[in-house]
Amino acid sequence: MTVPTISSESLRLLLDRGAAVTVLDVRPAAERAEWAIPGSVHVDAYAALQRGDPNALTDFRPTNGGPVVTVCAGGKMSRLAAERLRAWGLDAVSLEGGMRAWSLAWNSAEVPHSGGTAQVVQVRRTGKGCLSYIIGSQGDAAVIDASLAPRVYSDLATRHGWQIRSVLETHLHADHLSRARALARDTGAMLYLPSTDRVSFAHAPLRDGDVLRVGSTGLQVLHTPGHTAESACYLLDQRALFTGDTLFLGAVGRPDLEATPEEARRRARLLHRSLGRLLELPDDTLLLPGHTSEPVAFDGRPIVAQLREVRERTELLCAGEMAFVTAILERIPPTPPNYHRIVALNEAGTLPDADLTELEAGANRCAVA
Ligand SMILES: [Fe+2]
Repeated sequence: MTVPTISSESLRLLLDRGAAVTVLDVRPAAERAEWAIPGSVHVDAYAALQRGDPNALTDFRPTNGGPVVTVCAGGKMSRLAAERLRAWGLDAVSLEGGMRAWSLAWNSAEVPHSGGTAQVVQVRRTGKGCLSYIIGSQGDAAVIDASLAPRVYSDLATRHGWQIRSVLETHLHADHLSRARALARDTGAMLYLPSTDRVSFAHAPLRDGDVLRVGSTGLQVLHTPGHTAESACYLLDQRALFTGDTLFLGAVGRPDLEATPEEARRRARLLHRSLGRLLELPDDTLLLPGHTSEPVAFDGRPIVAQLREVRERTELLCAGEMAFVTAILERIPPTPPNYHRIVALNEAGTLPDADLTELEAGANRCAVA
């Protein structure tokens, strides 16, 4: 039987429209625990499907009406699952390329009251947890931490009547391939990086205290070393702070990537100092982080919090320097897959021709809670 498939982009659009669809994840529980499609239902049927068990999916009932989209890691076992369901008369299709292809799925949310005359759109790579941003003001736009195809950002900008003039990075990323350079090239925008000697391609360096104009608003640069040496945060109109991987909504950035144990300790101390500086901002400053550790729902709700809330829920932020350094170094999570290669490519400013999702596989792991 030929099993119809659906592309990850088509499924993304269905979920974005709120269409009736049941997403059935047939992967083993351990794989699902790593990352999943928001709203999907799980039947741990992988092993049963593999051994040809005719009862592999007999417990499954579609929840939302509409078609059933079956999902596995790479799109093979999900075909088998869809075939079974079709034989029972259900309208089932298989997600082409599975979760690997889903890695590039995204949605967006407007961030209300983010400051002055600017409008901010949070662009969420739900398949991986990377958060990027478009800030628009008076027809001009800046993009921070582009992790998706340049087209995603240029289309969003066009829809808002903005022209992308500036493309910024908060730091050199280790968990995803930066699309900043490609986006700047495609749109003719200026590429800005926090001042660093790690890259040799052309860019404009940003230093502590610099202010980058976007329309009638300004982004102030705060150099916040720790997660990486060059890491910076950007303060919009004194009200919203793009924190990159320095501070998340309940965690802080890991200081150990590409570092010896001594260097990681030194960076942890720097991070403590940088966070201290951020904590001096007004309590109602809106924090806009570079990642989330959960798949992002298609709900249009931005992932943001006020500094006050983040301070309350992040125990590490209350610690003195010694306790902070000890705690953070004890809690370092497993390193992201392929991060050496990703860092090298980001330092070179190149995107390989090969399938990027293969290289970017796995959840982001830049945070320590
Ligand atoms: Fe990072």
